[in-house]
Amino acid sequence: MKVLVTGGAGFIGSNFVRHLLASDPGVEVVNLDALTYAGNLANLEDVAGDPRYRFVEGDIAEPEAVEGCFAQPLDAIVNFAAESHVDRSILDSSDFLRTNVRGTQVLLEAARRHRVGRFLQISTDEVYGSLGEEGAFTEETPLAPNSPYSASKAAADLFVRAYHVTHGLGALITRCSNNYGNHQFPEKLIPLMILQALEGEPLPVYGDGLYVRDWIHVGDHCRALELVLREGRPGEVYNIGGDAERANLEVVHRILEILERPRELVRHVQDRPGHDRRYAVSSRKLQRELGWKPRIGFEEGLERTVQWYRQNRRWVEQVKSGAYREYYDRLYRRRGETLSEL
Ligand code: NAD
Ligand code: TYD
Repeated sequence: MKVLVTGGAGFIGSNFVRHLLASDPGVEVVNLDALTYAGNLANLEDVAGDPRYRFVEGDIAEPEAVEGCFAQPLDAIVNFAAESHVDRSILDSSDFLRTNVRGTQVLLEAARRHRVGRFLQISTDEVYGSLGEEGAFTEETPLAPNSPYSASKAAADLFVRAYHVTHGLGALITRCSNNYGNHQFPEKLIPLMILQALEGEPLPVYGDGLYVRDWIHVGDHCRALELVLREGRPGEVYNIGGDAERANLEVVHRILEILERPRELVRHVQDRPGHDRRYAVSSRKLQRELGWKPRIGFEEGLERTVQWYRQNRRWVEQVKSGAYREYYDRLYRRRGETLSEL
């Protein structure tokens, strides 16, 4: 199988490329990535020399860059490339529209013209909006995105669906809950809190901290994606959840406990506008049809993740570059604060 993975230098994409190369000796992977602030070739330095792997730097929203990946026929496209952070989409949503919507449409068009057999769109549970205290998102839950990020992902999903119905493209969509694990950029809750705690710096918790997310280890997500890619039914949506609902404060307290740091480091800061109160995902369809279940419990996965950040200081120092600091200055400037002075 020859696969074009887009966004393979990011958090989930790099874990997926590593997973696929390890699980299938016959696979060949082309990784197309624009190397934005979130893309990092160090995420894949262990497989860079593998003859079955090739990296191409390029933008999925540019048709010529995508066309350049078709020197050989491809069997599948797996689209991870995206602007992926809600807070950034609140500051400015232009790149979200360009990459997440236009980029997906460019890939779909290339897939149609080159008769690519499978197109897997990596979407998110956030397209369903926010839940009350009960229930979980199913594949039938209506789309009701609340942030510019989730709106752009929902728009992309509708294009994917339309290319299946109109052009017969073998497209599938997965909608996963919040991932955590090694190589996640420290703008998302878990790695940010781990790094702040390691430095003895304040941990910024939005609002009351009682917002609930369903957490899945990236390794479990990658196993589910390979199954859907190989065995999922074209035209279908598959939800992927970790069966691990936790309030943000619970997660933050657990990180402090693992690192033996005091709870006094927690700062309740101004809430995120349009903040979704709760996400929970039912993966019953995936379990029933493809026999997948998460294997890594949240407690174990979180400890492994904390250890990874502790042991990979070189990676951490590299990603905490100028661009990282500029982003946090911008996010907190409205209150005249910096992340370290909260
Ligand atoms: P990430 O931000 O870590 O990585 C995104 C990657 O896409 C980066 O390598 C970046 O360089 C690349 N990229 C961005 N714009 C590009 C462009 N125009 N052309 C080519 N490459 C481009 O994201 P992630 O957390 O790994 O998420 C991957 C996918 O999974 C996204 O589509 C996201 O919506 C989805 N998802 C993420 C989560 C999560 O918890 N992180 C949960 C569910 C779904
Ligand atoms: P995040 O990791 O940004 O993922 P998403 O918004 O896609 O779910 O945020 C997870 C939760 O943590 C969300 O409720 C917002 C909250 N959060 C904080 O409280 N403080 C922070 O600094 C960040 C980044 C997130």
